[in-house]
Amino acid sequence: MFYDLASSSWGQEEHNAIQRVVDCGQFTMGPEVESFETQFAAYHKKKYAVMVNSGSSANLIAVAALCHKKNDPWQRGDEIIVPAVSWATTYHPLQQYGLRLKIIDIELDTLNADTGALEAAIGPRTRGLVGVSILGNPARLDVMRKFCDDHNLVFLEDNCESADAELGDIKAGAFGDIGTFSFFYSHHMATMEGGMLITDDTELADLARCLRNHGWTRNLRKESAVFESSEMDRFEAYRFILPGYNVRPIEMAGAIGKEQLKKLPEMTAVRRDNLAVFKSLFERDERFIIQRENGVSSSFCFPIILNPALKPNRSRIFAALEDADIGFRIITGGCITRHDVIRHFDYKTVGSLPNANIAHDFGFFTGNHPRDLTPQITGLYTTLDNAF
Ligand SMILES: Cc1ncc(COP(=O)(O)O)c(C=O)c1O
Repeated sequence: MFYDLASSSWGQEEHNAIQRVVDCGQFTMGPEVESFETQFAAYHKKKYAVMVNSGSSANLIAVAALCHKKNDPWQRGDEIIVPAVSWATTYHPLQQYGLRLKIIDIELDTLNADTGALEAAIGPRTRGLVGVSILGNPARLDVMRKFCDDHNLVFLEDNCESADAELGDIKAGAFGDIGTFSFFYSHHMATMEGGMLITDDTELADLARCLRNHGWTRNLRKESAVFESSEMDRFEAYRFILPGYNVRPIEMAGAIGKEQLKKLPEMTAVRRDNLAVFKSLFERDERFIIQRENGVSSSFCFPIILNPALKPNRSRIFAALEDADIGFRIITGGCITRHDVIRHFDYKTVGSLPNANIAHDFGFFTGNHPRDLTPQITGLYTTLDNAF
């Protein structure tokens, strides 16, 4: 393909890491995962990291942990503020735990939640906010953090699209009480499938460890915040304390993750070089709305909104991209209220979500990769220019 959505970021190091696990013979979660967790937590200046088998599982375990906290757990019917544009599995765990969504609009230029809508979203049952940084661009995470502190809300950061992005000196994902990450193939770090939660909260970390692993006590620290150890624990392999899951990562994913983490700063730098090429072509062209950086983007992809004022025909643009052998997708799944799944949700919107609907109807993205994409990005511009 001339310009694909993603490409492999693996080299010999990742292959060696897989071989190391094969040679050792321990395939289920073990020391490789544990040391990757330690390194990932340190990279984000957090106390704890808990690895799972996908970003979706990280969101599920995060919500489950918040619903099983000893004090002030999220409860059925509580309201959680979410942006209108995010991936489907940002929302699904909230539905599964009986929580009600308060959906706010996005900013058209950053594609992240419009924090100006936060005050209007709050009500007597509001208990949390999910902050999402879209496609590498940090949301107003500092504003969200303060809003949550001021209103005594839990801040869950779904950072599955923006590993290594920064706001101030803080990595995206590290602003929340819990932050989640995805290591799916196309993402900043790829471990086949994989995900991670980070937190400074000992109880949440212990709950996450328990919930990812059948809801049992094995692998939990003796002095854990979530159960009282008994004399029998020495003998009991099976002691179930929570309605948990098995969403453990495999050992190879941990071994690969360590190699990917070493390469992450360099991979992000290359993505940012590509972003500079993209901006130089698209930034001053009024036909296209591109993402305005808030902080330092780790540039997952290149989102483009066709300027609705010019009444563009997106289908014709898509056909031209297909003809030019350029891969594209709609922006992070578009506006969640436009999907059939919304009929399963208890939700309210704050206003009519005009920007999310524009992104849904006029937006799309093409891929960014950790290698030089100058010819592909130039080809993209020429293709769109001609199609217009
Ligand atoms: C914002 C967001 N959350 C969650 C996920 C789910 O991650 P995974 O594909 O690893 O399950 C994604 C996937 O791209 C995402 O973009």
